[in-house]
Amino acid sequence: MTTALVILAAGKGTRMKSDLPKVLHPIAHAPMLVHAMRAAAVLSPERTVVVAGHGADDVRKAVAVEDETAQVVLQEEQLGTAHAVDQAREALTGFSGDVVVLYGDTPFLQPDTLERMVAARATHDLVILGFEAADPARYGRLVMQGDTLERIVEFKDASDEERAITFCNSGLMACDSKTLFSLISEVGNGNAAGEYYLTDIVEIARSRGLKVTAVACDEEQTLGVNSRADLAAADTVFQTRARAELLDLGVTLMAPETVYLAADTVIGRDTVIEPNVVFGPGVTVESGATIRAFSHLEGCHVSQGAVVGPYARLRPGAELAENAKVGNFVEIKNAEIGEGAKVNHLSYVGDASVGTATNIGAGTITCNYDGVMKHRTEIGENVFIGSNTMLVAPVTLGDGAMTATGTVVTKNVDPDALAVARARQENKPGYARKLFDMLKAKKARQNKGA
Ligand code: UD1
Ligand code: CA
Repeated sequence: MTTALVILAAGKGTRMKSDLPKVLHPIAHAPMLVHAMRAAAVLSPERTVVVAGHGADDVRKAVAVEDETAQVVLQEEQLGTAHAVDQAREALTGFSGDVVVLYGDTPFLQPDTLERMVAARATHDLVILGFEAADPARYGRLVMQGDTLERIVEFKDASDEERAITFCNSGLMACDSKTLFSLISEVGNGNAAGEYYLTDIVEIARSRGLKVTAVACDEEQTLGVNSRADLAAADTVFQTRARAELLDLGVTLMAPETVYLAADTVIGRDTVIEPNVVFGPGVTVESGATIRAFSHLEGCHVSQGAVVGPYARLRPGAELAENAKVGNFVEIKNAEIGEGAKVNHLSYVGDASVGTATNIGAGTITCNYDGVMKHRTEIGENVFIGSNTMLVAPVTLGDGAMTATGTVVTKNVDPDALAVARARQENKPGYARKLFDMLKAKKARQNKGA
């Protein structure tokens, strides 16, 4: 079946109390609209039309990042859900097939639910997605007669008897494109809200003798986000699902509920994630790696067998080769750490490359920023960087080089050379004793005077 998606995303989302359009609020670092788009990708839509209103320019940008073929149409005034779908009419000229309508603020649909809706279309002209609501609140109620959906009545317009119904409208529907737009043409706004309700097409379809039904899914999938509290709850739902998926793929999560994942986190099997690890966007961890407790990763790649943390921070552009080690209180940014190389303690390595089997001593800093520009530090293979070395970039250290502890490296170091740049030590015999005596005498005089 050829399918087009119409995603409604024009609403203001007043209850978010935000300058950001509601559908762009992130869940696990991806806009909720993008979650909805990804959920619907299972239908391999031939066209995707996003109906934007509030913050349309920002919505357009976010949509383009996810799918540059998707069209964004403008609904200047939010006159209701039927009016919103109608804005996609022009973008769908020449399209024949099914239109699936979904909401940009309903990010948790499961692929099989969409497939079941499309399957039900084989025997019905219009298919609505419903759910049993634990608390039906202000949802539209689905008035069923056996298998047939007779009509949807909005809460505002419902009688007490209708309000007692718990089978509710998720807002999703599937219908042949031509039929859908023809039905929408007949929708009026003579209701309690003065809006063009998409839900009215059910009764219109029935009056034309069309077959209408509802498919059910569990409530969690239809979870809509209307407030910051809903957003937090949605994040929790995402995290629970994403953790379960990783466990299922053969990743060990020692304390799953303490690991925060991003929508695009990729982790290979047999990798072990210790408690309290945070994944920002753009992280790939290969198989058999270990991410130890309290580490924070974003925009980085960790190869097989590498060990990160505890308490490590990998920032964008950090690239760890196989069996590399990045230990506690180490920050890596825009830097490649070679195979088997070690940066084990209290270091900052930024805008740098570190060769195979090189060892970076504790407290090493790449001084990459001169206050105006960033500069690179290139460190060869099998280099030994002594503790507390300052590498003042731009600077290059050849293979097999060494730096003495406390060295401030400002000049390139040749392969196999030792760089020492620190004041020479001088020992003064007996001087410590003299100094102590002097200080103690001074303190005694002060105490007497007081
Ligand atoms: C709608 C349904 C209701 C259903 C509920 C599920 C109608 C008339 N009612 O009610 O039966 O139970 O969703 O959450 O359809 N939107 C636009 N342009 C508009 C109006 C809305 O793009 O002019 C978008 C909103 O941004 C939102 C979605 O459509 O993503 C739903 O709109 P909303 O106003 O939240 O509808 P509800 O009153 O919740
Ligand atoms: Ca709503």
